[in-house]
Amino acid sequence: HPQKSVLGENSMLSLQDCRAKGGASGFKVAILGAAGGIGQPLAMLMKINPLVSVLHLYDVVNTPGVTADISHMDTSAVVRGFLGAQELENALTGMDLVIIPAGVPRKPGMTRDDLFNINAGIVKTLCEGIAKSCPNAVVNLISNPVNSTVPIAAEVFKKAGTYDPKKLLGVTMLDVVRANTFVAEVLGLDPQQVSVPVVGGHAGVTILPLLSQVKPSSSFTQEEIEYLTKRIQDGGTEVVQAKAGAGSATLSMAYAAVKFADACLRGLRGDAGVVECAFVSSQVTELPFFASKVRLGRGGAEEVYQLGPLNEYERAGLEKAKKELSESIQKGVSFISSK
Ligand code: NAI
Repeated sequence: HPQKSVLGENSMLSLQDCRAKGGASGFKVAILGAAGGIGQPLAMLMKINPLVSVLHLYDVVNTPGVTADISHMDTSAVVRGFLGAQELENALTGMDLVIIPAGVPRKPGMTRDDLFNINAGIVKTLCEGIAKSCPNAVVNLISNPVNSTVPIAAEVFKKAGTYDPKKLLGVTMLDVVRANTFVAEVLGLDPQQVSVPVVGGHAGVTILPLLSQVKPSSSFTQEEIEYLTKRIQDGGTEVVQAKAGAGSATLSMAYAAVKFADACLRGLRGDAGVVECAFVSSQVTELPFFASKVRLGRGGAEEVYQLGPLNEYERAGLEKAKKELSESIQKGVSFISSK
């Protein structure tokens, strides 16, 4: 066994593992931060995903328990757990997709930027591991502040000589999921039928829902536009306040992360027309990173779409978003260049 199971060589997991190696097709996915509030439900949902053949669960605590638990689900993906920095390399070797929800979440009164000091270092360490052990993997970065952690990851990969901008995606899917839900509520529609592009970034005013481009094509009163824009921008804070110190969105985030990861895997498989919003290296604005619709393919984010026509309200929002985004991006870049 090249990959040691945390449950020991003789466990059922290892036996299952041996057989699966023969005929398994599908993708190999690692979750870093897999024992956390997002990580656990995310691991559970990825275990159900038929596109996944191997699921590696890495964390600095509690992975043996989470792995044992999830490995009993009767779906085909083989689950292996990895605990602590000394097992990061094994967790990452051979992976096609790495999803990163590692790091501390917000408490009431905190902005996502308040998490920078702790999470920047965690993301740096994990991305150094990726550069070393699976430099070709697609990376889905969830750890906040996404507006800064994605530039950090890019700088780490550049330093290591492995940077492929198409393969680094900041996950903003929860903003889209929330926007679909809140807009559907106002329109009296099934949220599954509603599609709202959300561009910019993933914090406060950088979250810019394009209500003029909602599908199915809809019109809103100015009051509805202001209510929806604010609710979508403050969706995370709504959950942080309701959880009152017990963390931020985990269940809806796990759902959004799986929706996004599944789109990435369908892209990797070669499906046509897979389009989702993500925070990526971009030439859509003058900023080096920006969230907009991207087409996911075998190479990752193969095409980054322009924003399309914006109304006056959205253009004003875009200017505000760019100002804050520019500072957050710079903060991420400086974190690595000062090292
Ligand atoms: P949590 O505290 O419940 O879990 C985080 C996990 O990361 C813990 O199990 C912890 O042991 C692990 N961890 C810490 N350092 C690590 C390291 N060096 N390597 C591997 N694992 C490590 O936090 P939660 O609620 O799961 O949130 C995780 C992150 O996701 C936070 O930064 C949060 O702000 C962010 N988030 C992002 C969203 C988005 O839309 N992109 C939405 C919601 C949260």
